[in-house]
Amino acid sequence: MEVERVQAIASRSNNLGIIPPEFIRSEHEQPGITTFNGPVPELPVIDLANPDQNQLTREMVEASSEWGIFQLVNHGIPEEVVKEMQRVGKEFFELAPQDEKEKIAKKPGMKEGYGTKLHREPEGKKTWVDFLYHNIWPQQILDYSVWPQSPPEYRKAHEEYSKYLVPLVHRLFEHLSIGLGLEKNVLKEASGGENQKFLLKINYYPPCPRPDLALGVAAHSDMSTLTLLVPNEVQGLQVLQDNHWVDAKYIPNAIIVHIGDQFEILSNGKYKSVWHRSTVNKDQTRMSWPVFCEPPEDLVIGPLPQLVSNENPAKYKTKKFKDYEYCKLNKIPQ
Ligand code: OGA
Ligand code: NI
Repeated sequence: MEVERVQAIASRSNNLGIIPPEFIRSEHEQPGITTFNGPVPELPVIDLANPDQNQLTREMVEASSEWGIFQLVNHGIPEEVVKEMQRVGKEFFELAPQDEKEKIAKKPGMKEGYGTKLHREPEGKKTWVDFLYHNIWPQQILDYSVWPQSPPEYRKAHEEYSKYLVPLVHRLFEHLSIGLGLEKNVLKEASGGENQKFLLKINYYPPCPRPDLALGVAAHSDMSTLTLLVPNEVQGLQVLQDNHWVDAKYIPNAIIVHIGDQFEILSNGKYKSVWHRSTVNKDQTRMSWPVFCEPPEDLVIGPLPQLVSNENPAKYKTKKFKDYEYCKLNKIPQ
């Protein structure tokens, strides 16, 4: 069956000024009703150029424990490298002919490919987004058959981005290991070492005539160890804080780091995976590029033994990453 993409639904809806009923969230989710209106602090800022490494670690630990999300500045990824990745992704969504996109459509059971969320959520609602998933690292697992063929610079742009992103992630892992009172390489090794996967997702949220009623991505926490996200210039990320959905305010060119479920588990709850969702915009297309750092599927993840004792027992089960994923995707208790 041919799937209708949100991009096509959006073109139609924008002319009519209304959205199909399956995109209207229930009242307890509608951003128009549930977005916090009061003053909101900016996401914690971590300056990677800070020469005081101990202070940097302390700030990162505090943000990871209290917010589960922070923004990185002076992260070392050149602006033109990010801009080029954004350009080629936008061109794929906006200029590639639809049949070319469908050639790399995600097949059921596969993680990679172009798509639209097919299965409806428990309440029968859909989200206002099309996406593309593919791994960008390590090189030996890359499947170029699910990468866009156009624009021609697509592949090069992502090779460039991963060249900077991978060492940056490893640097964050070191700070977060030290922050747990452990050797700097512990979190990296526990997450699969050089075999950890870097899964890129491109979110494409077309303009939506009723951004007060729809959501781009519904509330969730990421399954990753860490997620590093670059947004375009259109705001829309929200995080749950003290039971309120607050707009995540970030600086242009910052990279947004989310603590994912696997780091919450490995740290035995010291680091908190952040609940977040995304809203859509009436007139502008929002895009974002999260990279999910994920352990190899057969790797067993649980609270690090060094952090567990009689006084501080394990708060999470130990299981293979693929079993964690299976439960989460099928909404089975972990
Ligand atoms: C996601 C996500 C948020 C955003 O795709 O997991 O949380 O800002 N996206 O697009
Ligand atoms: Ni997410």
